[in-house]
Amino acid sequence: AADDPAPAPPMGWNSWNKFGCDINEQLIIETADAMVASGMKDAGYQYVNIDDCWMAPERGADGRLQPDPVRFPAGIKAVADHVHAKGLKLGIYSSAGTKTCQGLPASLDHEEVDARTFADWGVDYLKYDNCNNEGRPAVERYQKMGEALRATGRPIVYSICEWGENDPWEWGREVGGHLWRTTGDISDSWNSMTGLLDQQVGIEQHSGPNGWNDPDMLEVGNGGMTDAEYRAHFSLWALLNAPLLAGNDLRTMDQSTKDIMLNPELIAINQDWGGKQGYRVRDDGETEVWAKPVSDGSVAVVLFNRTGEDQDIQAKAGEVGLPDAAGYRSRDLWTGVETSIGGEIRASVPSHGAVAYRVWPNPGEKS
Ligand code: DGJ
Repeated sequence: AADDPAPAPPMGWNSWNKFGCDINEQLIIETADAMVASGMKDAGYQYVNIDDCWMAPERGADGRLQPDPVRFPAGIKAVADHVHAKGLKLGIYSSAGTKTCQGLPASLDHEEVDARTFADWGVDYLKYDNCNNEGRPAVERYQKMGEALRATGRPIVYSICEWGENDPWEWGREVGGHLWRTTGDISDSWNSMTGLLDQQVGIEQHSGPNGWNDPDMLEVGNGGMTDAEYRAHFSLWALLNAPLLAGNDLRTMDQSTKDIMLNPELIAINQDWGGKQGYRVRDDGETEVWAKPVSDGSVAVVLFNRTGEDQDIQAKAGEVGLPDAAGYRSRDLWTGVETSIGGEIRASVPSHGAVAYRVWPNPGEKS
């Protein structure tokens, strides 16, 4: 619909990767403040998303979910007001099950009242998990919440967190989802990140405006990977039109983490819809070429090296979907260096790293 709230992949932050259940309203408020102060808001980050563990162990006498009185004494509405006053949006979490993954009350068979509660609080985004689902059919469970959210009349991004178990890319859009997790959980390691990446191959055609494949949140800045690995993680997630949801502590980011998360040219690639999600063009064992068309006729190319040594990786312009031309202009999206090239895109790519280019055909130079 015209008022769908995810024409581009959602950008923001989520509490889970770094904090797990160790959350409270002060963290959420300080994170919103840090999102503005760090320049992330200006770079396009918008959603401040509370994950599992915000709710009290029991529903209220009115049947509604209530926030944990120790973690969120002022309540979710007060947190939403603060986040909105900063020009940002608030996300919350529940599960399409009897309880959340951490054993707290969840929304199965309470979809209408919970959606209304979230809307009343001013929530802008719901991540809807898959734990404790009693073996009931996924499409039904997720459809129920999709309808309940729509019935509130408030635009709420609906994030289907079904872990890819029942191919949610096939039905996520029809049940009102704006993005759907394609895999199990990411963790802060090279093996986890590359394992999730492999699971994105072959589903790219299901992604597009208001319905994105979600390979899970970012781990950039959490310490388990090198900067080169985090740059590869960010380059590839940008190319995949993944939601860019930071999973680190925004209050204490160092400069190298900021330089990755705030890269304006990769963010532009992520937010641009050129008609196709990024996809793997070639897999030569442990070196790979990935590409994504950009709407101005350029192509974003990621040369990816999984080996333990630097590797020379190359791709032909035609192979990545560029039109035939006598020459091309290539811009390195991490260094800003621009070069004129012939029909070959190439780089020496560091071990466990990626080089990202955006390549334009030179006008009027068709061969
Ligand atoms: C499983 C989800 O996949 C994670 O992203 C996170 O939300 C946890 N559940 C929370 O319990």
